[in-house]
Amino acid sequence: MTLQLQEIDPAVDFPALLRCLLAAYASPPQPLTEVFLPMRRLTPEAAASSLAEGAARLALWHASDPTSHWQKVVDIETGRVSGGACWHIYDGDTFAGADALEAVWYPDDGSRRFAEQALESMARPRSQVARRPHLYLNNVFTHPDYRRRGVWQQIMDWGTRKADKLGLEIFLDATPPGRPLYLANGLVELAETVTAPATDSPDEAWMEMAEKVPPFTSFLMWRPVGGKYEEGRTIKPSLA
Ligand SMILES: CC(C)(COP(=O)(O)OP(=O)(O)OC[C@H]1O[C@@H](n2cnc3c(N)ncnc32)[C@H](O)[C@@H]1OP(=O)(O)O)[C@@H](O)C(=O)NCCC(=O)NCCS
Repeated sequence: MTLQLQEIDPAVDFPALLRCLLAAYASPPQPLTEVFLPMRRLTPEAAASSLAEGAARLALWHASDPTSHWQKVVDIETGRVSGGACWHIYDGDTFAGADALEAVWYPDDGSRRFAEQALESMARPRSQVARRPHLYLNNVFTHPDYRRRGVWQQIMDWGTRKADKLGLEIFLDATPPGRPLYLANGLVELAETVTAPATDSPDEAWMEMAEKVPPFTSFLMWRPVGGKYEEGRTIKPSLA
């Protein structure tokens, strides 16, 4: 089996990338995906329409953001997308003056407020330290049919080569299944965040979201410039 890392074709690839992403994050199930895309407890018609909206949104975000570098890993024999990722290459402070992301893919009620609070919670530790030029791995996923065949490794190698060429650090927010892979690859864990949105006045939509998205944990990981971290010598970004 040949699994090859390729640049995406933004005109056609996002529906297949999104299907692959959803299958990957469903095994094991991770509540985080529901924050970005409503999929749970939908009729088949509503799920199809949510998928179409999600793919169009990914395409729009990519087209409107010059820092965005999407990749896919393709099974050459079948043409299937086996995995993918979105790297960002930031040449300045990406958080300076940036507006919080509005979760407009949810109606303007408690469900949107819940998703926005979750997004803000996940990004908070990174927003404290990733304030200089760096690479950010926004998402990475391997379809369950293609696990343990080096798909993730090809994607990481692309990013680390790029970071070394540009002399930049890498930041990412790892999921529990991803965390051990980064630690094994020499990245350093800077923070552990449990995302559990809360409000004093939940409406029905908020409560439904809270049921669909139980508290979940993410880990802020960091790779220093050059990739070699030495305990006691390398200066770690420090969180408040
Ligand atoms: C995490 C994930 C991307 C790994 O993808 P993958 O393509 O299977 O990983 P690779 O085959 O490139 O594995 C790289 C190394 O990690 C090891 N590895 C992979 N999955 C592992 C696991 N579940 N447990 C232990 N080691 C694992 C591999 O053995 C390999 O090490 P080796 O080179 O010494 O053999 C995949 O499991 C996934 O999509 N998970 C769900 C989505 C997700 O959480 N994504 C966000 C990650 S931050």
